[in-house]
Amino acid sequence: MATSTAPKSLLRPMTFPRKLLLGPGPSNMSPRVAAACALPLLGHMHPEFVQIMDEVKEGIQYIFQTNNSLTLAISGTGHAAMEAACCNLLEPGDVILVAWNGTWGERFSDMAARNGADVRIVKKPAGSVFSPQEIEKAVTEHGPRVVYLTHGESSGGTLQPLDGMGVVCRRHGCLLVVDAVASIGGAPLYMDKWGIDVLYTGAQKVLSCPPGASPISFSAAAESKMAARRKKPVSFYLDMGWLANYWGCDGQPRRYHHTAPISNLYALREGLAILAEEGLEDCWRRHRRCAELLHAGLEDMGLTLFVDRPEHRLPTVTPVRVPTGIDWKEVSQYVMKHYKVELSGGLGETANEVWRIGLMGHNATPDNVRLLLRALKEGIDHCRSKVHSSL
Ligand code: GLV
Repeated sequence: MATSTAPKSLLRPMTFPRKLLLGPGPSNMSPRVAAACALPLLGHMHPEFVQIMDEVKEGIQYIFQTNNSLTLAISGTGHAAMEAACCNLLEPGDVILVAWNGTWGERFSDMAARNGADVRIVKKPAGSVFSPQEIEKAVTEHGPRVVYLTHGESSGGTLQPLDGMGVVCRRHGCLLVVDAVASIGGAPLYMDKWGIDVLYTGAQKVLSCPPGASPISFSAAAESKMAARRKKPVSFYLDMGWLANYWGCDGQPRRYHHTAPISNLYALREGLAILAEEGLEDCWRRHRRCAELLHAGLEDMGLTLFVDRPEHRLPTVTPVRVPTGIDWKEVSQYVMKHYKVELSGGLGETANEVWRIGLMGHNATPDNVRLLLRALKEGIDHCRSKVHSSL
């Protein structure tokens, strides 16, 4: 006999409001993705499911612009893909140079250190990006085996130019790891052409999928480093040797490793299909156009964008400074209450300094930009009128 009674909360139907998620992620699922999530489960080794995995792999190769055969989706969120990059590529004592201009560089440094790497940091304030010359100077100073850069830094809203970074890394015999969780599909990125060795992203941003299956890809050079490891990676779950086999990347018969998140992979297959139908370049253009519309609207309201240089602004996530005397949280709460729209605060260095507005995938439309601008203006006016009436 059970010793405690069933929780009453579970005996009521689950309810939740519909919200427009215009923060840094997750974005709303597109209806097609939601329908894919609801498809019946297949066994994780069934041939029909294996075919879906193969199609997901092709879709990832397309959005990453890579021919790498070691390309797959990690069963986990973007953080799991970050862990997978760290724990497979790095061995204790490896020197890694982390370009840190926000939360993601900070997180990667932490994970690299937990894997025993000798972490060296080149740091710039949130809102700024690194030049190839700055990276080359730091590489010359530290002599790393691996360099890490964030393509879309969602905490500071920067789009890191990557062209030329691969050349620097090749010249100095190191591998280049890039985090594109917030940027993939929303801004141009060419894994092979730009000489990126490890690239990963998440599903819950431009792909408009639920978080839980995260694309990752490794170059032949990254594979060679992993093949020469002295010891296995500490994580069994994220071991790329096992995962390469499970995803059919090693030419061997597939062996059971773990039970894939079946519904997340249906969703990812659908999110990738939607992107493929639109075309990668048109998707990049749509995100750029929506971001420009948003930026112009924010400036027309007298607000200041956190990132000064337009070419360094991340199209998918825009931080905008909170005006003096305004409580960012109160405005966000107003916008949620009256419009059911998520407007996020800053993260890390930008906490309490900015609001962050995400326009990603299914949500990146001019109508959503106009709605957000209206809601934000009303929220700020509301807070200002409260401040004035209390004086
Ligand atoms: C998450 O990706 C965030 O930027 O808050």
